[in-house]
Amino acid sequence: MNKHEIIELLNNDSKNDWLFNEADKVRHKNVGDEVHLRGLIEFSNICKRQCKYCGLRSGNKNIDRYRILKDEIILYVKKAVDMGYKTIVLQSGEDDYYDADKMTEIISEIKKYDVALTLSIGEKTYDEYKAFKKAGADRYLLRIETTDKKLYKEMHPHASFEDRVNCLYNLKSLGFETGTGCLVGLPNQTIESLANDILFFKELNADMIGIGPFIPHQETPLAKADKGDFWLALKVMAITRLILPDINIPATTAMETLNPNGRIIALQSGANVVMPNVTSTEYRTKYEIYPGKICINENPQQCRGCIEGKIKAIGRTISTEKGFRKFSN
Ligand code: SAM
Ligand code: SF4
Ligand code: FES
Repeated sequence: MNKHEIIELLNNDSKNDWLFNEADKVRHKNVGDEVHLRGLIEFSNICKRQCKYCGLRSGNKNIDRYRILKDEIILYVKKAVDMGYKTIVLQSGEDDYYDADKMTEIISEIKKYDVALTLSIGEKTYDEYKAFKKAGADRYLLRIETTDKKLYKEMHPHASFEDRVNCLYNLKSLGFETGTGCLVGLPNQTIESLANDILFFKELNADMIGIGPFIPHQETPLAKADKGDFWLALKVMAITRLILPDINIPATTAMETLNPNGRIIALQSGANVVMPNVTSTEYRTKYEIYPGKICINENPQQCRGCIEGKIKAIGRTISTEKGFRKFSN
C-alpha cells in the first residue's frame, strides 16, 4: 500500500468494514488466534518532561506523585506470574531517580522469573539502553507520537524529534524488540501525517505498534482540545496490521476509554495483544495520563478475569507463551 492509498482509506469511511475485516484475516493468518496478555506495572508517575497532552507532565502540580521501589515491583511481578502472565511491562514517566544502576538491578531481579520483560520508560542514552539489554530486558516501547516534525515540536517543548528517532534506531540496533506508535487526534494533526506515521513504522520495521486516540486531560495545555476519534485510531491500527502483518499490536486502554467495547473491537480489527494492569488499585488513579482511564477501581485479579472472559467470548484463546514477534515473512 502506498501513501496515496493509505490516505484514501483514512479519508473514506465507506471501506471501513472491508478494512477491519481484512486486518482481522491478516492477523489470523500471520499471528493466529492467541491473544498475548502483558502484565503492566506503572511504577512511577514522576516525569521530567512537558508533553502537552499528558497528565503526568512535570508542569501538572495537581497530581499525587508516587514511586514504587524494587521490592514492591517484584511483589507485583510474582503475583502476575502466579496469575499466568508471561510478559511484564514496566512503564513510568521519565523519572531520573531510576538511574541505570537501579534499573539494571530491577531488570535482573525480574528476569529470575520465567517472563519476557518490556520497558517503557522514555528516552535514554545508547549506553543506558545497552545496560538494560545486558541485564536482560527483551523489549522496549517508545512511541514516536507523531512524525509531523512541526507538530512534534509543538507537543514536546524542549524535546527533539531527531532524538526520539535516534532512540528508536538505537533500540533496534541493540536487539530490543522495538515498539512504537502514535497518538491519533492531536490538535492540527493531518491525515497525511498519520499516513506518514504508518510508513515510518514500516521503515523502522517496528516489532510492536501501539495506537491510541488522544484524550484531553484537564490539567494540561490541551484541556480544551477535542478528543481523538476512536474509529480513525482503529483505522490507523488496521492499516498498520496490513502493512506489518506479523507484528504484535495491542488493543489499547485508550481505545476502551473512548468506546466501552474498544479493546474487543480492536482485537477483531487486527490487534492480538492486551496489557492489563497488575498494580494494586491505590496507584491506578494516580497514573492519570488522561481522564476516564478504565480499570481504575479494579484489582489485578478482577482485570485478569474480566479480560479473559471477554477474549474467550469472541472465540479467541489466551497464549501461554511469551509472545515474541513471529517473523512470518
Ligand atoms: N514516559 C514514557 C513515554 O512517554 O514514552 C512512557 C509512559 S507515557 C504515559 C505512555 C504513552 O501514553 C505515551 O507514549 C503517549 O502516547 C500516551 N499518552 C500520554 N498522554 C495521553 C493522552 N492524553 N491521551 C492518550 N494517550 C496519551
Ligand atoms: Fe512524561 Fe511520557 Fe507523559 Fe511525556 S508521555 S509527560 S514523557 S509520562
Ligand atoms: Fe480491568 Fe476489565 S480489564 S476491569
